[in-house]
Amino acid sequence: MDYKIAIIPGDGIGPEVMEQAIRVLDRVGVRFGHRFTYETALAGGCAIDQVGTCLPAETIDICKAADAVLLAAIGGWQWDTLPGDQRPERAILGLRKEFELFANLRPAILFEELIDACPLRPEIIAGGLDIVVVRELTGGIYFGERGYKETELGRAAYDVEQYATGEVERIARVAFDMAMKRSKQVTSVDKANVLESSRLWREVVTEVAKEYPEVTLKHLYIDNAAMQMVSNPRQFDVILTSNLFGDILSDEASMITGSIGMLPSASLTTGSFGLYEPVHGSAPDIAGQDKANPMAMILSVAMMLRYTFGLLEEADAVEAAVQSVLRAGYRTGDLGGGGAGTTLIGTQEAGRLIAEAI
Ligand code: IPM
Ligand code: MG
Repeated sequence: MDYKIAIIPGDGIGPEVMEQAIRVLDRVGVRFGHRFTYETALAGGCAIDQVGTCLPAETIDICKAADAVLLAAIGGWQWDTLPGDQRPERAILGLRKEFELFANLRPAILFEELIDACPLRPEIIAGGLDIVVVRELTGGIYFGERGYKETELGRAAYDVEQYATGEVERIARVAFDMAMKRSKQVTSVDKANVLESSRLWREVVTEVAKEYPEVTLKHLYIDNAAMQMVSNPRQFDVILTSNLFGDILSDEASMITGSIGMLPSASLTTGSFGLYEPVHGSAPDIAGQDKANPMAMILSVAMMLRYTFGLLEEADAVEAAVQSVLRAGYRTGDLGGGGAGTTLIGTQEAGRLIAEAI
């Protein structure tokens, strides 16, 4: 089969982790007899520098013509002082909105081999962690009305959190469907003790739950959920939450699995199209030094193979290859590479070893 993929390397460590992801994908192609073709597109700070806008129309066209999009990372200190509506991050938000990628899946799995990299005490994580954060991605405060107004205490800025029932319903279904394939347990996270939008969220999620009598639904307030994520993370399986809360909880979940350098994500719509990106950012401080961990990007490739292309065996092979490299003791710096019993590796070596293991 022939698969067309739009490639957005972006900024900072983006291009170097993307290079390794493509190396791995090429290896999958050879090993399983598929043809992956790539079209590279500009987005983010590099696009601002080269063509004056963070999300050129050409990039959208390239993504439209593709079956899936791989995006590495966007942003950097060079563009931090631009006005809000011109920041490179607008490119990610623009892509999410343009393709209605309302469902963001962020699996946080603690690989056995990385137990030492987890900042929590061993007894808290005994038996491992396997959580998936299902984050609403095209609504809420990220896309609500925003602006400035004058108040008695001076100029005020505001961002509106708003959710429509249809928006909550469709993301809730994604979470419940996911739970049906796992341990049939959903934790919906909101702030219903304070926010009206959360009260509606809770009402709709409770309603959708009736369609899934086998699934146990639990509601938690975001503050409590953040606390329990570090005190008792083993209780979580599927976490269903809003755009903003999901942003925060998924970073927290990633850290307890060892490093944010390990966490992939899938942003999906109805249908098979999807955008796949690591949860980590552009890490400009280590860009171009062959230090970045490409595993989150490579694991995002596995998610693309699974969710957009339905290539389950291939996806499993990529994940198994990452695990086998970890098992052999190879670690990038973020995973404590060079410590006892491990070999420190760089970005390129990590990609090479993983490709070789497929
Ligand atoms: C993420 C990132 C983005 C977000 C930023 C870069 C806009 O933090 O994907 O989690 O807030 O969604
Ligand atoms: Mg984030």
